[in-house]
Amino acid sequence: MTIELLLINLDHVGIAVRDLDGSLALFEKLYGVSPMHRDRVESQGVEEAMLAVGGSFVQLLQPTTDDSPVGRFLRKRGEGMHHLAFAVADLEAALRHLISEGVRVIDEEPRIGGQGKRIAFVHPAAFGGTLIELVESP
Ligand code: CO
Repeated sequence: MTIELLLINLDHVGIAVRDLDGSLALFEKLYGVSPMHRDRVESQGVEEAMLAVGGSFVQLLQPTTDDSPVGRFLRKRGEGMHHLAFAVADLEAALRHLISEGVRVIDEEPRIGGQGKRIAFVHPAAFGGTLIELVESP
């Protein structure tokens, strides 16, 4: 596989927030950007909003339950950057490559995220303590 073609771009930066409506209002007031898309993803226990910034997005995540991954993150670390998401052309190939490198992935198979996109998470232990999401670009 051609490693240099693995990532297409930085798709979004995910930020965990306690109050999605309040955070959206603040983001719009400070940076003049309103959400393009808002979605409740029950399988991940989040309500999320996507804010377009140039060719990338900021994703604000509010947990729907305290024991969801984002709910636990907020309890442990408070509000702040939660993950980086890279767009990939071929999600299965990217996962196969990472697994072959001995990387601990959270999702060995793609799952469906917000906006019906195919995604997978890579464990923060794999690189600099940063949770990485891979998003398949249609
Ligand atoms: Co994300």
